[in-house]
Amino acid sequence: MLDQALQEKLNDRIQHGLYRKLNVYEDKIDFCSNDYLGFSKILSSENAQHIYIQNGATGSRLISGNSFLAEQTEQLIADFHGKESALIFNSGYSANLGLLSCLAQKGDTYIVDEYIHASIMDGAKLSYANKYKFKHNNVVDLEKKLATAQGKKFVVVESIYSMDGDEAPLEAIVNVCEKYQAYLIVDEAHATGLYGPKGEGIVAANNLQDKVYAIIYTFGKALGLHGAAIVCNQTLKEYLINFSRPFIYTTALPPSIYIQLQKAYQLLPQVDRIILFDLIYYFKQQLSQTTFKFIESQSQIQGLIVGNSKQAHELSNYLLQKGIYAKAIVSPTVAIGSERLRICLHMFNTKTDIDLLVQEINNFTK
Ligand SMILES: Cc1ncc(COP(=O)(O)O)c(C=O)c1O
Repeated sequence: MLDQALQEKLNDRIQHGLYRKLNVYEDKIDFCSNDYLGFSKILSSENAQHIYIQNGATGSRLISGNSFLAEQTEQLIADFHGKESALIFNSGYSANLGLLSCLAQKGDTYIVDEYIHASIMDGAKLSYANKYKFKHNNVVDLEKKLATAQGKKFVVVESIYSMDGDEAPLEAIVNVCEKYQAYLIVDEAHATGLYGPKGEGIVAANNLQDKVYAIIYTFGKALGLHGAAIVCNQTLKEYLINFSRPFIYTTALPPSIYIQLQKAYQLLPQVDRIILFDLIYYFKQQLSQTTFKFIESQSQIQGLIVGNSKQAHELSNYLLQKGIYAKAIVSPTVAIGSERLRICLHMFNTKTDIDLLVQEINNFTK
């Protein structure tokens, strides 16, 4: 009975072209992963160091999973991004869930960009606070929502949006938050390591750390690792240690991650990010000679609007046959009608890779 009901829900997804399944694509040109700087490969080749590090953390951070190494790493991360403290979570998802679920109280209000990541939405849903969305990157609409918000107000945005690749107008958002005494939270998942002279992210690069209450940096994307940190003041850090359930009730990350994180943070300032931004420029130049409809983005994330999920999957499958992996993103991850091919550009992609990608998209659409 239950399996039948579950299968019916799956069939519904299959029928609408929305079915998700796991695949393995290991030998394709990568226009898909979030390994923007190629760190996942660089750091793994350096793993052969013969230092003794235990495998598992053996418990949650509050029980047996804490270490000087973890605390040292958190301080290094806080210093790197120019704030007082940092608290590491097991993933970006649990960092956002852990922060949003316990920060605002009953009677307070979360106001989030309509394109905000699912982890923020899920965290807000777990809280007792009021929740509203404002139109994507629209500061006028944000101000409207702030003007009528109750209790303590929290605004949540991404600095680079994960699906559209566009940038939040942070300065304007900071100003309107100041006007309404709202606390601003910025998820820098897709800016971590890529923006600012050292890869410190968009908040720090624009010297906005003091105006942003909490910033989320994730390690699973440009750092090529796993986990995330909430960078904030010491009071919030201590509050999270006490009230954030995804922090409290889980085994901590394996200790080896801290060594890798320290290496990644040391490496970041040395990365020649211009190589990636040159590739983005080249990619956009190639596109300007086509009639494809792209979402306006200056970042490493580019979205080719296809308009329905069936076509988005067909294009992605066609590219796979040509040795290229770029992912179809369909509803409910993005709104119906904005189904797309999400193309991620990396330091290790070449102009030849890009030429091939553009040529094959052209061939498909002919
Ligand atoms: C904006 C944003 N925040 C948070 C996350 C979650 O990070 P993680 O993959 O480390 O759980 C993602 C992942 O896709 C993301 O795009």
